[in-house]
Order: sequence, then structure tokens, then C-alpha cells
Amino acid sequence: MPNALAFNARRRHPGSALPITPGASSTIRSDIIRGLGHERANISPKYFYDLPGSELFERITRLPEYYLTRTESAIMAAHGAEIARCLGIGRTVIELGAGSCEKARRLCRLIRPARFVAVDIAAEYLHMAAAGFRAACPDLEVRPVVADLTTDLAMPEDLPRAGRVVFYPGSSIGNFDPPQAAAILSRVRDLLDDDGALLIGVDLVKDADVLEAAYNDAAGVTAAFNLNILSHVNHLIASDFDLGQWRHRAFFNPAQSRVEMHLEAITGVAVRWPGGSRKFLAGESIHTEHSYKFRVEDFLAFLAGIGLHRIALWTDPRHWFAVVLAGP
Ligand code: AVI
Repeated sequence: MPNALAFNARRRHPGSALPITPGASSTIRSDIIRGLGHERANISPKYFYDLPGSELFERITRLPEYYLTRTESAIMAAHGAEIARCLGIGRTVIELGAGSCEKARRLCRLIRPARFVAVDIAAEYLHMAAAGFRAACPDLEVRPVVADLTTDLAMPEDLPRAGRVVFYPGSSIGNFDPPQAAAILSRVRDLLDDDGALLIGVDLVKDADVLEAAYNDAAGVTAAFNLNILSHVNHLIASDFDLGQWRHRAFFNPAQSRVEMHLEAITGVAVRWPGGSRKFLAGESIHTEHSYKFRVEDFLAFLAGIGLHRIALWTDPRHWFAVVLAGP
């Protein structure tokens, strides 16, 4: 227990230079502080997505090593006609983790929905993206919904239930542990009537070298994305993380079938926030993200366990990524 003594959440800093005014709600503050105080410190990946983090993620999706986005787009492009045939027109598309809404724009061109609901935790970025979408498609009803999928997925009350398609691209479901992923997909299931559908992208297990390169790009964008979480946390809980004292680490953990991202202390570091502090030894790390990689049969069994059954599945020639259409 290297840090059991070093961590003291109740320690006060009278006269501390740290601002007292919190940048976030008390729930967010206690969520982050609990994670930092854990013997194996962690910060939830949902805190990656402030405005700079969302922009860095968009840059990641265009990196040569980050094959996920372009492979999924290629699958959607190659099988667009069939996807459109399966779904039909005039539906309500609900995109989870909408980000830039770029993928939904392409889907909407294919299936011409009646309305589009963009759901994301990053409010500022979401509103910007929704405004861009509205300007590009003035005939489509576009509704941004700020929500944290890990806690709730409430839709606007007047949103029709019939004909919903929940679109969850990018293998974002892989950023949740299996029980959390099951809870999220159960909430999705609850949003759907019998004619509803889930269109979801999942990254598949492959060579560790390919996986590790995707999360350790040569240009250092993923490292900047990972480190940016510390600036966001500084803003949210008024902590004093110094980004120069931390380095990005990402590796494939085959036993858990996931890429793990960590921030490792380069030297011994003391981090303070109003009301608490923690010391990290050199080499000690904060776990920031899991990115699970799936086998097709396991993922389909997982969906079926939630009451979502395969309607269709498309993959790329290398079987690196899959797009699954499932329904109740
Ligand atoms: C959003 N999510 C699917 C990305 C992933 O691949 O797990 C987030 C990311 N983390 C590092 N690079 C990209």
C-alpha cells in the first residue's frame, strides 16, 4: 500500500494558495477525489472531454495509427445501402457520445431520419456540433441532450418512442467495464420499442502491436489527450497537477482484452486540492482509461444477455472492427 499514509483526503491547507471555489458540482468533485484517493488511483475517462480534450480526440481520429474511426467509416460506406435498407427512412436517430456529430451526418444522409438527437457529456462541444449540424441540414430537427451515460439516459419527454435508432459508433462502449457497459446498453434497450434498433461499432481483438501503436501515436496526440485530463481535473477540483511531472503510458492487457491508458509520475509528486492531497512515488500511475477489444461471438452473446439480438453485422476485410445492428 505505497500511498495509504500519503493520501489524506481530510487534510486542510489553511492559507493554501489553492482556490476554494470549486469548478464543478459536489458530485463531480467527490467522484474525482474518491478516484484519486484510491490505492490504485484513477480518473474516469469521462473527464477527458472538456473542450480541448474533445478537440484532441477529433485529432486522434485522423491519426495514421488510429485505425478505428477510418475502419468503421469504411464499413459504413461499403454497406451503406444495406444499412439503409435494414433501417428504412423517417426514424429518430439518437447518437450516444455524439462528439462532432460527423458520423451521424453520414448516417443521416443514408437513412434520412425525421429527427436527430445528439447525446454527449461535453456540453460546450455538443452545442457547437449541434449548431453546425442544424446549419448543414436545416430540414432536420436536431436536438442536443447533455447526459452522462453512466448515470442516466433520459430523452426529452416529447420525443416519439416509435422508430428509434440508437447509434453508438466508435467502440465507445469499450471504454466501460463489462458491468457498466451492460448497464448502459440496458438503458438503451429501455429507450426502444419493438421496432427500435441499436447500431453499434466495436473494435475487435487483433495484434498487440497494432493496438499499442493506435494508443501511442508518433505525433504524441494521444499523450496530449491523456495529459489534458489533468488540466481538466485542475479546473474541476482546483487541484495543482503539474502536467510536466507526468507521462503517458498505454499498453494492451491481453488477460483483460483491453488497452489501458495510465499517467505515470516521472518523479515523486505531491498533488493538492482544497481539503486534500496525495503523494505519488516516481513510477506510480493514475489509471485513466480502458478500451476493451471484443471477439464478435462474445459481443453478440453480451448483447443477447441484455435482450438485444443481432439483426445484421458488417466487418472490414481484415476483421479489425465490426458494426452490429441489433434489436429487441
Ligand atoms: C472514445 N474511445 C472509443 C477512444 C478509444 O479508442 O478508446 C478514446 C481514446 N483513447 C485514446 N485514444 C482514443
